[in-house]
Amino acid sequence: MSKKLFSRYSLGAQALPNRVVMAPMNRNRASDWHLAPTAMTARYYAQRASAGLIIAEGTPVSPQARGCARTPGIYSAAQIAGWQNVTRAVHREGGRIYLQLWHVGRVGHCSLRADGSPPVGPSTVCLENDRVPILTRSREPVLARCDPPRALTTGEVKAIVADFARAADNAMAAGFDGVEIHAANGYLFDQFRCPYLNDRRDEYGGATSGRWRFLIETVEAVTATVGKERVGVRISPLGTAHEMQFDPAPLFTYGYLACQLDRLGIGYLHVYDQSGSWMHDPQSDLLQHLRACYSKTMILCGGFDRERAEAALRADCGDLIAFGKHFIANPDLVERLRIEAPLAPWNSATIYKGGAKGYIDYPTLEEEAVSAM
Ligand SMILES: Cc1cc2nc3c(=O)[nH]c(=O)nc-3n(C[C@H](O)[C@H](O)[C@H](O)COP(=O)(O)O)c2cc1C
Repeated sequence: MSKKLFSRYSLGAQALPNRVVMAPMNRNRASDWHLAPTAMTARYYAQRASAGLIIAEGTPVSPQARGCARTPGIYSAAQIAGWQNVTRAVHREGGRIYLQLWHVGRVGHCSLRADGSPPVGPSTVCLENDRVPILTRSREPVLARCDPPRALTTGEVKAIVADFARAADNAMAAGFDGVEIHAANGYLFDQFRCPYLNDRRDEYGGATSGRWRFLIETVEAVTATVGKERVGVRISPLGTAHEMQFDPAPLFTYGYLACQLDRLGIGYLHVYDQSGSWMHDPQSDLLQHLRACYSKTMILCGGFDRERAEAALRADCGDLIAFGKHFIANPDLVERLRIEAPLAPWNSATIYKGGAKGYIDYPTLEEEAVSAM
């Protein structure tokens, strides 16, 4: 039986040669001073260009949006130029690449900003144990506890909407094929969604519609800038990363959002199951509800392998499957999945370490064969 995972798919105007998506993954390898992607980053993504679609790593939309050392941004001329090299390299290899636009909200540290300002969030509720990568004076990466956040004013929330629109415009100038708004994993938009963190009395708090308003306004601003077909949104229902708690009414909360995004006509909804559990059950209420509320392309992510990906597509639970960690050690993941070759294991010690090792030195099957001769 021919495999659905390797069938073509039209994502708006983009013709994808297969349904394998490279999930966004931060690798903390930006240049020191400009916080821009380097030639190594261009090589890394170009090596993975056989993916149907690459969604490049979470990328801060402003200095305030930063939550980790050495993440490349998309708010300065040097960063746009650095990303131009990345998109050119991927396109030269025949690939397609979106950029994930990111604001970490309360998950941050004062040392990550030149002015030493604290992280920001919907409220002053701070993380208790979570740690983020920062740099010491001698520029060594270490993990540090998050600093307490400051609550954003109403005007500042609106300014962040504008930051996302500007970042999306910059992403287009850098040659990306589209952008994904990061509303998952306990970062800023997820914090506004969460009734335990969001105690605001302005229009961005209160009922579900108020708590999603910030994200919806951002989607509207970004689609007005780059066109609705080129915009995706990533969510992580039931996720607990960064000390989040289960939503008290997930069907209603995420169903409401999915209906709003459907109304806005964006290109895709990217759903990440951090537990790698409910997403693999075609009977899951949540999955079925999201699929019913959102009529366009749905990307599924979280714990997929060849068999699970094929099963999810055959059961029509989603249209595209995103793989994360397998892409770290398998630049030719699509080919390995296609011919049912073994997948190489990733080395967790080098994921965030910086440098070429564990970044651009994982061989393809072909390179392995040549070096074995
Ligand atoms: C090293 C690493 C970095 C990640 N960075 C991001 C990120 O920047 N944005 C995001 O939405 N998810 C991020 N994730 C989550 C992945 O996109 C993906 O959802 C997760 O790895 C689950 O997929 P998998 O089971 O196929 O690995 C990251 C995961 C890893 C392992």
